[in-house]
Amino acid sequence: MSNVRAEPRAGGCIIRSVVYDADRIGRRVAELGREITVAYPDGELVLIGLLKGSFIFLADLVRAIARPVQVDFLVASSYGSGTVSSGEVRLLYEPAAALTGKHILLIEDIIDSGRTLGALRDRLRSRAPLSLAICALLDKRIAPPIPEVRFVGFQAPPLFLVGYGLDHAEELRHLPYIAELG
Ligand code: IMP
Ligand code: MG
Repeated sequence: MSNVRAEPRAGGCIIRSVVYDADRIGRRVAELGREITVAYPDGELVLIGLLKGSFIFLADLVRAIARPVQVDFLVASSYGSGTVSSGEVRLLYEPAAALTGKHILLIEDIIDSGRTLGALRDRLRSRAPLSLAICALLDKRIAPPIPEVRFVGFQAPPLFLVGYGLDHAEELRHLPYIAELG
């Protein structure tokens, strides 16, 4: 971890330290792309990004996968502007196209309490996919293990993290690195 100055565009928040820099994230995302390519030798594969937090990760990840993929999104709302999980998951958008008989890989930015994933997994299961797995960039490992979590970028420290898609009150998603909020 290295210390960084407060970001001027951080909406008054202070960045305490960089936890994963852009190079490290890039290397790990490339590895995940290779793992996913090998894990799905055939069949239709749909990567479903959970918005908004996964948007940068998903964009980088699809370009690291060397096999045909389809991309769709889920929009759920659970946190409001707080830093603690409320446990409430509201689904605002889910894929309109049929998912029956396709491999679904749900792309999540970070697993904290795991409640968001638990709710969304059950919802996607009801769409009768050929398989359902989860790829999370970060896992704080606070949640009870979720069997569908098959790909994880990093085991994250139990801190509130921002950047590379992760927000605090909708700010700081644009940072190219992942940092601890001070
Ligand atoms: P869970 O339902 O508690 O696992 O919450 C997961 C969601 O909460 C993630 O998709 C993020 O949007 C958000 N979240 C959890 N931890 C953090 C964090 O450290 N920084 C930013 N967002 C977080
Ligand atoms: Mg969020």
